[in-house]
Amino acid sequence: MKINKNRNIILIGYMGSGKSTVGRKAAKAVEYNFLDTDALIEQEEGMSITKLFEEKGEPYFREKETEVIRRLIEGPKGNIIATGGGLPMKEGNAELLKELGTVIYLKAETETLMKRLSGSGDSRPLLQNGDLRNKIETMLAIRGPVYEATADLILQTDNMSFYEIICQIEKLLSV
Ligand code: S3P
Repeated sequence: MKINKNRNIILIGYMGSGKSTVGRKAAKAVEYNFLDTDALIEQEEGMSITKLFEEKGEPYFREKETEVIRRLIEGPKGNIIATGGGLPMKEGNAELLKELGTVIYLKAETETLMKRLSGSGDSRPLLQNGDLRNKIETMLAIRGPVYEATADLILQTDNMSFYEIICQIEKLLSV
């Protein structure tokens, strides 16, 4: 399959939807760079997301997310970019993501997310306290429609293998 090297793919979705894992594997398959907005922010700030939330607060982190996206728009193409689960929610960011490239929503049911997220409170400040199912359901009710409206392609991933997801991404990039 011949791959168009001059695009960007952006993966959006809730925490635990597989953005980073899928992104890394897919990037390898299509010989794109893999980027992760959380990791870029952690590098620049020299601390983990959890620490950043504690020390500088969530609004600061959200500003950094927008900054990273703006910078990527100016940069070279050929990236698969995993985004933090809250990134599309800030006003204006959905438009910026569309400008950056083709947006794929990795959709997953609450049950699937529960399995993947139990025990991840340490690295995800927004899941630190309270009932996980309740949090997922409440946040998804708000975020789900925004993810859907932002996406060029929605993949219902619950019963998809990594291989199948990557095939979809290859297909999008094929020329
Ligand atoms: C967040 C998701 C996290 C990270 C931060 C906030 C969110 O990224 O950006 O903890 O608001 O959903 P992942 O979706 O990669 O876990």
